[in-house]
Amino acid sequence: MIVLSVLALFLFVSGSVADTPANCTYEDLLGTWIFSVSDVGQDRTINCSSTGKVVRTVTVDLQKLYVAVDDIGHTGFFTLIYNQGFEVVINDYKWFGFFKYSQQGSQVTSYCDQTLPGWVHDVFGNNWACFTGKKVQPIPPRYENNPTLGLKHQLLMQLPFTHNMEFIDKINSVQSSWRATAYSHHETFTIQQLLRRSGGRGSRIPRRIRPVTVAADVQKMAAGLPERWDWRDVNGVSYVSPVRNQAACGSCYSFATMGMMEARVRIQTNNTQQPVFSPQQVVSCSEYSQGCDGGFPYLIGKYIQDFGMVEEDCFPYTGDDSPCNIPDKCTRYYASDYHYVGGFYGGCSESAMMLELVRNGPMGVALEVYPDFMNYKEGIYHHTGLGDSNNPFELTNHAVLLVGYGKCHKTGEKYWIVKNSWGAGWGENGFFRIRRGTDECAIESISVAATPIAKL
Ligand SMILES: *[C@@H]1O[C@H](CO)[C@@H](O)[C@H](O)[C@H]1NC(C)=O
Ligand SMILES: *[C@@H]1O[C@H](CO)[C@@H](O)[C@H](O)[C@H]1NC(C)=O
Ligand SMILES: *[C@@H]1O[C@H](CO)[C@@H](O)[C@H](O)[C@H]1NC(C)=O
Repeated sequence: MIVLSVLALFLFVSGSVADTPANCTYEDLLGTWIFSVSDVGQDRTINCSSTGKVVRTVTVDLQKLYVAVDDIGHTGFFTLIYNQGFEVVINDYKWFGFFKYSQQGSQVTSYCDQTLPGWVHDVFGNNWACFTGKKVQPIPPRYENNPTLGLKHQLLMQLPFTHNMEFIDKINSVQSSWRATAYSHHETFTIQQLLRRSGGRGSRIPRRIRPVTVAADVQKMAAGLPERWDWRDVNGVSYVSPVRNQAACGSCYSFATMGMMEARVRIQTNNTQQPVFSPQQVVSCSEYSQGCDGGFPYLIGKYIQDFGMVEEDCFPYTGDDSPCNIPDKCTRYYASDYHYVGGFYGGCSESAMMLELVRNGPMGVALEVYPDFMNYKEGIYHHTGLGDSNNPFELTNHAVLLVGYGKCHKTGEKYWIVKNSWGAGWGENGFFRIRRGTDECAIESISVAATPIAKL
């Protein structure tokens, strides 16, 4: 009983900050929004957790597929961010807010015509203010019952993970493209910790905005690329930083983004600069993400542009939601750009990813993690459709780093090469290969590129 109430308390606390449960769509976002602005004229230390008196409103119309138009005729850009929020760039200002939601136990209410207090600043990172957005055309609140958020399920998740050798043997007998194994260190985790490692709870990759039609020029340029590419071996030189281990914290999105920045600094400087960045900074300090409960690489690109990132030595990884204590003397690196590959959320494709990869370097990608993936040892992964009857897993959304692509000369199967953050002992020395060209586990659906600014 005592154990139960302690657990319940823990769950209540940890449930209040979570990969936000809001679940809104592109169609919800389209239309006319009124942004009510308060707390104007501040710098990046602004606190938008509550907002002051409204001093101004701005009306913005969001039109297909990514065009924003304001009330005095400026045109700009917008993108949905997953099912969580949106960013609008117009008239030299960037607006970002999460959709409003509330949660009681397993009951989630999304208010997709409103935002929580969000942040606006000019494109140079000056002139900060807080705002809240409200759509002119109201959308009724949407209620969802997500049983995985309920107490009963959460308690089940506290059970230790145990291997299921039958499941592993089955994976290896139904196909020969990849091999599964039992990782002994997985048994040191609870089921919930293993789930957090793979992206957090109950976060599905939402369906596409539309069937992607890839621009003819992108397709043509991609067709001219080499048949294989691997940033770990470009004429014998690697530009990929060492594999790391996120442990039991849901910080994959931070490791994926830092890994991208590390590789891109190496590429930009011909390996003369090899900083390793601090994923803990984002976990502890970013208000654009939810610490060990998840986040999204697009918003970490934004965080790095707005606040800068420090090196690992400055704020070493602890894998928990520790306070944000960064020494003032730490150097910060910034990002000059961050964007969804394909231009906006939903615009992604195999060709656009290949082009971005070869031209600019590794980038963040997302995949849906099924239980069979955790046991991946080697080969070209695809989801077998098999489930693990021993452990009550849910589908999760995991952020990782794309570093290459190729094609198996025996079978002709095309694959991506991806860096994970589960240590070098997992998979192919910390990496995995996954089927390419068929949006396997949604790997071709969300891809984020960002550009770090190296030191002089
Ligand atoms: C912002 O203010 C709220 C209270 O209004 C406080 O709880 C929170 O810690 C503050 N956030 C930061 C980053 O200072
Ligand atoms: C979000 O809503 C869609 C329907 O609009 C539903 O299919 C999906 O399962 C929901 N996702 C989550 C994580 O609740
Ligand atoms: C990049 O570094 C390699 C190895 O140090 C060196 O051989 C090569 O000349 C460098 N390239 C340029 C453009 O400086």
